[in-house]
Amino acid sequence: MVKQEFFKLNNGHEMPGVAIVGTGTKWHKVNETDENFSQTLVDQLKYALSLPGVVHLDAAEFYMTYREVGRALAETSKPRDEIFITDKYWTLSKVTENPIVGLETGLKRLGLEYVDLYLLHSPFISKETNGFSLEEAWGMMEELYHSGKAKNIGVSNFAKEDLERVLKVCKVKPQVNQIEFNAFLQNQTPGIYNFCKQNDIQLAAYSPLGPLQKKPADGNSQPFYSYINKLAQHYNKTPGQVLLRWVTKRGVVAVTTSEKKERIKQAQEIFEFDLKDDEVTEITKLGLDHEPLRLYWHDQYNKYNSESQKA
Ligand SMILES: NC(=O)c1ccc[n+]([C@@H]2O[C@H](COP(=O)([O-])OP(=O)(O)OC[C@H]3O[C@@H](n4cnc5c(N)ncnc54)[C@H](OP(=O)(O)O)[C@@H]3O)[C@@H](O)[C@H]2O)c1
Repeated sequence: MVKQEFFKLNNGHEMPGVAIVGTGTKWHKVNETDENFSQTLVDQLKYALSLPGVVHLDAAEFYMTYREVGRALAETSKPRDEIFITDKYWTLSKVTENPIVGLETGLKRLGLEYVDLYLLHSPFISKETNGFSLEEAWGMMEELYHSGKAKNIGVSNFAKEDLERVLKVCKVKPQVNQIEFNAFLQNQTPGIYNFCKQNDIQLAAYSPLGPLQKKPADGNSQPFYSYINKLAQHYNKTPGQVLLRWVTKRGVVAVTTSEKKERIKQAQEIFEFDLKDDEVTEITKLGLDHEPLRLYWHDQYNKYNSESQKA
């Protein structure tokens, strides 16, 4: 049995500390056609679902990959209670009418009765674009929570101000805020890390491997990368595993993906080793010395770049 860690959410439920196959980023499509069905993604998902332990997958209606996730779920023998599925409602444009229709559509297409976590994909919601306000959207999320179709509910890419609006009106507090987070982007928006910690909202990190995705050719000579390499060697792990473990040691769920089976397995196994407190602190510090690395939501959040590397 693989060693796993779970984070306790503010409703008492637990969530696996790492999502090993995200179905956005490199898998994301702009539309769904017969031709662009990705058997490679199905194979990766099925491989992930064959690994021991609870397997956490990350989906969203925006990614246009429900067919692949649904196929993998239909073909796996892993019991439903050993699968944790995150799904998201897209807000920048209309994929579905509202979060209630969104989740119902997603469940049907995934062949599921419930998701483990349903998120509003972003705070950019308005009556003009969406036909409902942020507060009304959250009310619909609460309905889904009470119906049992979403075991946990949360948000993604929310700044402090957006969460404050929700906290003012909510009956069910968001359990999770999934944001861009890695050693080179420790605050997607000003103060968001501490705000979520103080308010018992679990953070989840997408692009946890940003520093490796954008590693320069001469990276190994830089203090950050050379320290990560040193730790990887010491623990007999990969630099990717060290970075994912650092994310979880900061109390944040890591959401990664890969088209390589080996890396999917390595992600599922990050709790087989531990980093010492001073090592976690050193990665944090060396990361903060690096210039901000933002890979997503540039239009909305580039204005915060200078503040994103403040602890
Ligand atoms: N809520 C949101 O707005 C939002 C935004 C973005 C992403 N997400 C979610 O988060 C998931 C993960 O995002 P992400 O792809 O940015 O995660 P990530 O874990 O930071 O990056 C994964 C990528 O890193 C590459 N990689 C792994 N090890 C590497 C190494 N040693 N050197 C160079 N590259 C390496 C992988 O390539 P290989 O495939 O070759 O291993 C893969 O393409 C997405 O799929 C999506 O589900 C959510």
